[in-house]
Amino acid sequence: MLPWGRALRAAGLLRSAGAAAAAQCGAARRERCGPGPGKRRGTKLPAGPDLRHFLRGAAKREPPPEPEPGPVPSSGRVYLETYGCQMNVNDTEIAWAILQKSGYTRTKQLDEADVILLVTCSIREKAEQAIWNRLRHLSALKARRQQQAGSPLRIGILGCMAERLKEEILHREKLVDIVAGPDAYRDLPRLLAVAESGQQAANVLLSLDETYADILPVQTSAGGTTAFVSIMRGCDNMCSYCIVPFTRGRERSRPIASILQEVRMLSDQVLQLIQERHNICKQLHLPAQSGSTRVLEAMRRGYTREAYLELVHHVRDSIPGVSLSSDFIAGFCGETEEDHQQTVSLLQDVRYNVGFLFAYSMREKTRAFHRLQDDVPAEVKQRRLQELITVFREEAARANEAMVGQCQLVLVEGPSKRSALELCGRNDGNIKVIFPDAEVEDAAGCQAPARAQPGDYVLVKVTSASSQTLRGVPLRRTTLSRSAAGH
Ligand code: 5AD
Repeated sequence: MLPWGRALRAAGLLRSAGAAAAAQCGAARRERCGPGPGKRRGTKLPAGPDLRHFLRGAAKREPPPEPEPGPVPSSGRVYLETYGCQMNVNDTEIAWAILQKSGYTRTKQLDEADVILLVTCSIREKAEQAIWNRLRHLSALKARRQQQAGSPLRIGILGCMAERLKEEILHREKLVDIVAGPDAYRDLPRLLAVAESGQQAANVLLSLDETYADILPVQTSAGGTTAFVSIMRGCDNMCSYCIVPFTRGRERSRPIASILQEVRMLSDQVLQLIQERHNICKQLHLPAQSGSTRVLEAMRRGYTREAYLELVHHVRDSIPGVSLSSDFIAGFCGETEEDHQQTVSLLQDVRYNVGFLFAYSMREKTRAFHRLQDDVPAEVKQRRLQELITVFREEAARANEAMVGQCQLVLVEGPSKRSALELCGRNDGNIKVIFPDAEVEDAAGCQAPARAQPGDYVLVKVTSASSQTLRGVPLRRTTLSRSAAGH
């Protein structure tokens, strides 16, 4: 059994020829809030469950249950707004699938909405502050709407912040009509029905087994080239700084049959047949949080700096060319300058391609809140954060520069944001690649030269690199299987 199973089992980007279906398998949950590089005490990892264990367990499970009949269909227009991590993007799709089934329509215009739902994040104070501001703004809109047109507007708050601050949102601030925690989305039609009668309605019960396995999320960007497939919910790791176990509840995995069904459906949404499966993207998210063993211990991460580095080497040996991303927290309780320098040196040693860096923000309920002192002054946290960002960028630029001159297989996503004359796509390490939108030959030579479309694969020769992006020239259009065969 691979000792690294826990860390590796969730990351990875499925790429699928012709698929509007590169599916980020489970990364949604793990990527932002997961345990990171395996639970370790000292330098020895306990042999946790690995993928095979997970598959064996899944084979014994029942298929996903038939959905229960929904309540009487309703006919409001719903506006959904998403904050925070990929898990929340997935939650938005689940909530919308449930509402659509019970008769609601979706609008992208705030002015047209009968119901406004915010899918919220509690991970840091800053995230919550943005949502409080938005709620105050929406509440003023609601009052104006009532005065001017006499038409009621319902506002709901979903997800982590709903779970964490139910009382405050409903009673003290009286800003919303509906509050639904992450395990209560099936109840949304009922909650909305209650709200229609003019009462506030809430459900923040956490569940031990809700995975929404039978609900196929409705993808927000129809025709997109990528999709997130959630394979689990909740978290049991109890890292000392983290609110997630309190807002999303216990860890539970979705039955594998329902994951497969969703991936199949996503890949059926495009037109080409998938011949072969060279479709696992070489990208892993290994959230380190700190480079100091002392701080990692205070965080209760369960591994040392050395164990983390060992994992990185193991991953790099096993998957040559793998692209790595990570999360870091600057200024955790008790962090000294020396600890901080250890994080700087970890960033230099590992040389990540993508990084998410944050200043520590104390969260009530967590172990750090009860037991540790938030003793790094705000300006020191900010200064350390800036230093980490600078070092991360320098290293990422170096890592990306090493790709100049190479040919990369790029999955085209669409026009680049900056210029209509350029296309944007992702390479096998999920790094953004920009190249001119010109006519390109077909690798098989049986089609006339044409401009690449979203979902196409193009071989691109990399000509320059920055810390975030590669630039290049397109050589030819191809397919995953042809490219894997070396053509
Ligand atoms: N303060 C700062 N950053 C945090 N994260 C989680 N909780 C906190 C907190 N209290 C960061 C971690 C995690 C990512 C999702 O958010 O780096 O991996």
